[in-house]
Amino acid sequence: MKTYIETYGCQMNEYDSEIIRTVLRDNKYEILDQIDGAEVVLLNTCAIRENAHQKIFHRLNHLRALKKKGSVKVIGVLGCMAQSLRKDLAEFSPVVDVVAGPDSYKRLPSLLNSARETGSKGFDFSLSEWETYSDISPKREVGTNAWIAIMRGCDNFCTFCVVPYTRGRERSRSPESIVSETERVVSEGFRQVTLLGQNVNSYKYEDYDFADLMKMVGDVPGLRRVRFTSPHPKDFPRKLLHLIADHPKLCKQIHMPLQAGSDTVLERMNRTYTKQEFYDLVDDIRDILPGVSLTTDIICGFSGESDKDFEDTVEVVERVRFDSAFIFKYSERKNTIASRKHPDDVPEEKKTERTVRLNDIQRRISLERNEEEIGKTFEVMIEQPSKKNPDEWMGRNDQNKGVVFHAPQYKIGDIVRVKITKAGTNTLIGDLAEGSASPELCRVSYNDQLFQ
Ligand code: SAH
Ligand code: SF4
Ligand code: F3S
Repeated sequence: MKTYIETYGCQMNEYDSEIIRTVLRDNKYEILDQIDGAEVVLLNTCAIRENAHQKIFHRLNHLRALKKKGSVKVIGVLGCMAQSLRKDLAEFSPVVDVVAGPDSYKRLPSLLNSARETGSKGFDFSLSEWETYSDISPKREVGTNAWIAIMRGCDNFCTFCVVPYTRGRERSRSPESIVSETERVVSEGFRQVTLLGQNVNSYKYEDYDFADLMKMVGDVPGLRRVRFTSPHPKDFPRKLLHLIADHPKLCKQIHMPLQAGSDTVLERMNRTYTKQEFYDLVDDIRDILPGVSLTTDIICGFSGESDKDFEDTVEVVERVRFDSAFIFKYSERKNTIASRKHPDDVPEEKKTERTVRLNDIQRRISLERNEEEIGKTFEVMIEQPSKKNPDEWMGRNDQNKGVVFHAPQYKIGDIVRVKITKAGTNTLIGDLAEGSASPELCRVSYNDQLFQ
């Protein structure tokens, strides 16, 4: 059966799609990298905001036409939206044959087989307390970075968030299984791993905590960079900051979701920290990790957010000066605590106005921070040709900032030194600097064929 998978949402879903491809390949499904010719089409979906849902409904309308023509036989909706809408989804959209949530992927071959053979609809929404897919070694697309989920689920229950309902209870994978997955991806040619979890601080497996795990992964021979996302400000371990400072492989980049600057809004969100505690954490991060890059997520217009509350968020953004920020309009989600206890009472225009204003402020700050990098030299790992000019490379420095430069003698995966000459809001521009290893030396430690 020729199958095509489309992925929406966060990196956890990207990782899950790799798991799904592996499960299906092991069951004699052929995975295509484009939709043409596919008999089975699977959408791995997101539920975080209403526009994520809307995107899928539009896509399903389009797929309905392909199914009528007869080329597509089975349509499946997987992931977080599948878990949160469940059977409603098949009722809304009769075109859907299979609906399966994030803990049900091992059952997919049997659900798809029966849909194909008998035309019966297949559903699986069981959330598991133990499923971590540790026994599945996902086969990844070639690249420089491999995502590795170290835990699944979330127990934080931020009142606005649907994830604890779509992904169930928090559970961590064993450090051994994570280290052996890291060793495997290194042997396949990947030079960087990004460890994924909804709140990596709460990683716990027997006596191992997240800092122990980072050290074990950082020590894997041949690996050049380790990143992670996301930690939670309420319990960020200071021990981890010292480890990052001392370990050459652990990148000086932290994505630390703020969500809001006002203490009353933070409390209604159940974030369990205050503005002052966030400031103290940022001070510690910058003291222990000079030159670190800090990014964040912010929600505008959560229930009860007054003009004064919003000004607190502006104050934090101005004072902390994040390198960049994802800024979202609040979108009420079904079944969340906020949907029951905190009415979605900020008018749409206010949400838009606040989002636009905060984005303007953040864009100015991002540009200013990038301009501070002019004249500095960074180690940059080449990731791909630049989108604007394919003769130039786009790579990233330790801080995860995109750097564009000209160096045709080097290849994807090489790590070179680049001196920054110009800065934009989202990218740095530079020149190859002295002290870069020769192209031959750059490549000795990995299988260069993977990057042809
Ligand atoms: N577990 C991650 C967040 C995953 S969701 C963490 O806590 O860091 C990514 C971001 O989406 C969140 O940080 C939040 O800013 C945003 N988000 C979550 N629920 C939302 C909602 N109902 N409306 C708008 N944005 C939301
Ligand atoms: Fe959602 Fe909060 Fe969990 Fe992040 S930590 S996934 S925002 S409940
Ligand atoms: Fe990720 Fe969206 Fe689910 S952000 S965890 S795919 S709701």
